[in-house]
Formats: sequence, structure tokens, C-alpha cells
Amino acid sequence: MDSFNYKNGKLFAEGVAVETIANEVGTPVYIYSKATFLDHLKKIQTAYAEIDTTICYSIKACGNINILKHLAQAGSGFDIVSGGELFRAKQAGADMSKIVYAGVGKTDKEILEALDAGIGTFNIESEPELENLIKLCKAYGKKTKAALRVNPDIKYDSHRHITTGVKETKFGIDIERMMKIYDQYADNGVVEMSAIHVHLGSGGKTIEPYVNYVKKVLPLVEGLRSKGHTIDTLDLGGGYGADYESDTVPSAADYALGIVPLLKEANLKLILEPGKSIIANAGIMLTRTLFKKTGGEKTFVIVDAGMNNLIRPCLYEAFHFIWPAQVDEKFVPEKRIKKLQMPGTEVVDVVGPICEGTDYFAKNRAMPPVQRGDLVAVFAAGAYGYTMASNYNARPMCPEVLVDGDQYTVIRKPQTYEDLIVLEM
Ligand SMILES: Cc1ncc(COP(=O)(O)O)c(C=O)c1O
Repeated sequence: MDSFNYKNGKLFAEGVAVETIANEVGTPVYIYSKATFLDHLKKIQTAYAEIDTTICYSIKACGNINILKHLAQAGSGFDIVSGGELFRAKQAGADMSKIVYAGVGKTDKEILEALDAGIGTFNIESEPELENLIKLCKAYGKKTKAALRVNPDIKYDSHRHITTGVKETKFGIDIERMMKIYDQYADNGVVEMSAIHVHLGSGGKTIEPYVNYVKKVLPLVEGLRSKGHTIDTLDLGGGYGADYESDTVPSAADYALGIVPLLKEANLKLILEPGKSIIANAGIMLTRTLFKKTGGEKTFVIVDAGMNNLIRPCLYEAFHFIWPAQVDEKFVPEKRIKKLQMPGTEVVDVVGPICEGTDYFAKNRAMPPVQRGDLVAVFAAGAYGYTMASNYNARPMCPEVLVDGDQYTVIRKPQTYEDLIVLEM
């Protein structure tokens, strides 16, 4: 589902014309659709209803506490990777028992905060990290659960910077060492090692790597169980396809079709950590055209958002569909796809105002002609958009807006220049 649609040539977020938001709140601005992210969550909940499943939305994708509150109220738990994300989850009223904490480098301070909060599971990435968690639990009289993150060495059809399930990455523990680690550490008395975790990477477009992973890990589960270890849960991480292009990725139900029978047969509970598949196409970044200029053979559309607002194209060569927010009827796009062919479009680079050659959103992209002042929407910007934004070039962070039906709320105010220096002495 997607709630960003053109009506009479004007782009709407649910029932609100995005132009109204731009005029009242300013640009650049992130606009989210509540109906969209709640629908995505619901679809995942429904798809996996047959087995005991905990959905832990990945806060790193988009962490505005207003959005987290709505997800928590709809039954979501959370995947966190830092003390800061734990703090956000608490502010959102999250059920702490539905929190999984991942990351290769958790500090003692962060671990103790998570233990005090009573989170559900620590996802453990190495033997030294496990030893440290056991040590801290013993020292502070705490007990907790851990999922050992296995590196299954499975290739994943994604950009190399967001592939995490192959051996040369820093993530997880080699599958060959898992048995030995259980034998050595499982009987520790404070950390119950009853789950196995994997996250293959982000941005996949097929279900096969997940099915292959489960098939690869089931013999390990059986081996561990036959030695008397209790393994009752598999955490399959995130990385499920999100609609950066219309109709190009499997649905939650498609993934479930491959995964659920395997877990059911093995009598395993499931944890999922979806980020993008919940929030990516529930958000757009709206920006205004400042200038159009030519350089050599190229035409550049210079907009008022920069790589500080949305770094994905520069960091991952990520594709975002970009289209003016007001167009002639003939330019209303039927599908948001890379190679959209429409007569009358012009080929441009969409770039920001930042002093870096990598400050771009699209290169050689066909778009209806725009002029100074025109609003341009960068679609499917909800995930890893605002959370990766920065103040580079001393640019204040932009506002975030949540649309619910025909109402909208500013859920994050724009920063001021004073905010930029408030912590400096
Ligand atoms: C451990 C872990 N879980 C979940 C996610 C969320 O992934 P996605 O947003 O692709 O669903 C990530 C993303 O990097 C991750 O590292």
C-alpha cells in the first residue's frame, strides 16, 4: 500500500495536498502517512499469525517517537542498536519485553541501561561480547536472554554496503563456531542462549535467501537441541523488500509462505526486525526547486534539500523515484519505476546545494520539466532518510510531518540556527 497519490495532477499524502504542507511548514520536509506504515505492520502481523511471532520494528529506519508510539500501540516491538534508540523506545511507551538489542559494539553503559529496562533479548555478535554480557549480569545480579547472531555466509542481492550476511563483513559469528560456543557458554546461569539471530542485509528483492538461511540453520538448531541446548526462537532480522519501485518486491505474505512452514515444523518461535518494509514508502521528502542550470551536456535541477537531508543515493547509489508534486494530467505516473518512459519528459540530474560532488538524488533521470519554485517529491524516503540526516554545511535539520486522513501534525519542528550551536561552549 502507498498513500501518496496524484489527484487532478496534485500530489496528496492521504487526504492532504503536499503543497499545503510545504506552504505552511516549509521545505525540505519529510511527510509520513500513518495509514501506510500501520497497514504494512498489519500485513506482516497477519502473514505470520500462524506461528508465535514478535515483530520488532527497526528504529534505525525511522525513529520519530510519534511514529514509534503508533507502531507500539499497534502491537509492534522494537529492534534497537544503541542506548539512544532504547531511550526513544521508552519515550514511545514500548513494551520492553518486545525489544531486541543488536550491534557489534555495545558499551557497558548501554548494556546496563538495557538490563535495567528489562529488554527481551540481546543479539550477540561475538564471543567477547557474550562473555561481557555474562560478566555484567553476574556483577549486577541480572538475568536476560540472548540470541547468537550467526553469519550464514549467504550472498544477498543488494548493494555491497548493506549486505551483512557474508563472511567478510563484521557481523555475526561464523556458523562453524556456533556449536563450540554453545558448549562453552550455554551453562552460565544468567544469560539464556535460547535464540539464534541472522540479518542478511537490507534491500533484498527475493524470498530465497531467507528460505536458504532457515534451511542452513535448521541442522544447527537440531544439532544444538540433540546436545541438550534449548533453542526455541529464530530471529530473522530485517531486510524484507520495500517498494522503492512499484510492484517489484515480494509481499509480507510471500515471505511468510516460504518461512512459516519451516519454522512450524521445527517448532520455533519467530522474531522479525522489519525497517524499510514498514516505513520506506510511508514517507516522502518534499523539496523545492531553487534553480535549473546547464553544465556541458547536462541539465541540473538544484533543489533545497541536500545529501544532509537524504544521504542514501550518495551512500548506496540508492534509487528514489522523483517527480514534481504538481503535474499536467498527462504526466501523472502510473508506476514509480526506474525507467519510466513518458513523452515530454526531460533528462536531468537532481542535485542539492551542498559543496560535494556526491550531493545528488538522481542522475540522468527523465522527469517532467520543472521550474524555479516547483515542488519535487522524493518518494519512498521514509526509511534511513531522517535518521541518517545531519547538520553538514551547518544546515538546520528539516521538519517531519505525519498525515492521518485529511489532517496533518508537525511531529518534529525544524531546527533553528540557534539550535545548531546550543551545545557548543
Ligand atoms: C540487525 C538488523 N535488523 C534489522 C534491520 C532493518 O533492516 P531493513 O530496514 O532493511 O528491514 C537492520 C538494518 O540494517 C539490521 O542491521
